[in-house]
Amino acid sequence: MSLRFAPVARAVCARRSASLVHARGQVMKRRFATGGGPELQPPSQPPGASSVPYLLGGVGIAALGAAYLFFGTDGSAQDTAKEIGTAAKGAVQAVEQKTGIAKSQADYQKVYDAIAESLEVEGYDDGSVAPVLVRLAWHCSGTYDDKDKTGGSNYATMRFKPESAHGANNGLNYARDHMEKIKAKFPWISYGDLWTLGGVVAVQESGGPTIPWRAGRIDGFEHHVTPDGRLPDAAQAEDHLRFIFNRMGFNDQEIVALSGAHALGRCHTDRSGFEGPWSFSPTTFSNAYFDLLLNEGWKWRKWNGPAQYEDKKTKSLMMLPTDMALIKDRSFRKYAEKYAKDEGVFFKDFSDAYSKLLELGVPKAQFPSQSWHMGGEAK
Ligand code: HEM
Repeated sequence: MSLRFAPVARAVCARRSASLVHARGQVMKRRFATGGGPELQPPSQPPGASSVPYLLGGVGIAALGAAYLFFGTDGSAQDTAKEIGTAAKGAVQAVEQKTGIAKSQADYQKVYDAIAESLEVEGYDDGSVAPVLVRLAWHCSGTYDDKDKTGGSNYATMRFKPESAHGANNGLNYARDHMEKIKAKFPWISYGDLWTLGGVVAVQESGGPTIPWRAGRIDGFEHHVTPDGRLPDAAQAEDHLRFIFNRMGFNDQEIVALSGAHALGRCHTDRSGFEGPWSFSPTTFSNAYFDLLLNEGWKWRKWNGPAQYEDKKTKSLMMLPTDMALIKDRSFRKYAEKYAKDEGVFFKDFSDAYSKLLELGVPKAQFPSQSWHMGGEAK
C-alpha cells in the first residue's frame, strides 16, 4: 500500500469520522446482537438441576477447606477470609460453568453491546476509545509468566495501586474509568472478564477478526500483583521482545501477529513519551501496520522526545524501535511480509494469538468447555 491518505498530520483527525463510519457502518451493525442482529443460543438448561445447589454447596465447603490449608494463617484474618471467599468463588464458578447455570452467552452479549455502543467518544483522540481498550486488555493479560503461572488476566490486578502505577500502564486509567461505567450496569461481571471482553469488542467493532472469548475470570487481591517490568519496553529490540513474549508462551510468529494491533491507536507524550499514530486510520483494524512498516521509508525523528521513527513522506506516522525490530530481524520479518501481503492470514493469526493472550493465567477449570463468538457470526 502506498500512502493513500491526505499526507498531513491532521489527516488522521480528518479521517476520524470516515474510519468510524467504516467501522460503525459496516461492522457494528452486523455484530451488534441487539437491533436485529443474529440470535444467540438460549442458555442451556442445567442437567439434573435439582442436585446442583447441593453440588455447589459441597464444592464451596471443599474449597473453603482447601483455601484454609493453602493460605494457612498468614496475613490478617480479614485477608484470609477474603482469600477463602475467592477460592470458594473460583471453585463454585467452575461448577456453575460446567453445569450451565452460570450467566449465559446472551448475558455477556448484553455487556458486549453496551461496550460497543460506548466506543465512540467525541473529542477523545481519533474519536474512539477502542484502541485504549485493546491496550488495557493486552496489559492486563501480558503480565503472565508461563513458568510460575503468575500474572495474566485472571485477577484483574491492575485495579491495585502497585500495578496501575507501573510505568507501562500510564494512561490506562482512562480505559479503566471508561469500563467502570459498563461495570455499573453489569455489576455481576468480573473485572478480568470485563476488560478482556472490552478488548474483543474493540478489535471486532473496529473491523478486525472475530476473537474467540469465554467468561470465567475472577477478581483477585493486591498480593496477586506481579513485579514491574513484565511488559515490553518500546525502546529495545528483538532480544527483548523474545525475552518478554517467550515468558508468556508466545513464539516469533505470535509476537509479530500481536504487534499488528498497532494499526490501531497512537502514542501519547503524557503516557509513554512517544508521539503519534502508526497508521492513517487509527480507528480501523487492518494489516496497514505491516504494509506501512515494510513499504514506507522511515528515519529517526529529530525531536526532544524518546528515539522513535517517522515516515519520510508525511512525517505524520511513527514507529517504535520495537516495531522496527520486526523487519530488521530475519525471522520476524518473514511473518511481517506474510501479513502485509495477506490480510486474511494476519486476521487468522492475530485472532488465535490474541485469544490465547486474553486467557493467560486463567485456570482452565474456570472456563466453560468452549469459546464463544461474541457479536454475531464469526468473521
Ligand atoms: C511488541 C511489544 C509492544 C510494545 C513495545 C508496545 C508499546 C506501546 C506503546 C509505547 C504504546 C503507546 C502508549 C501511549 O503512549 O498511549 C502502545 C500503544 C498501543 N499498543 Fe502496544 N506495544 C507492544 C505490543 C502490543 C500488543 C501485543 C498489543 C495488542 C495485542 C498492543 C496494542 C496497543 C494499542 C492498541 C495501542 C494504542 C493505545 C491508544 O491509542 O491509546 N501493543 N504500545
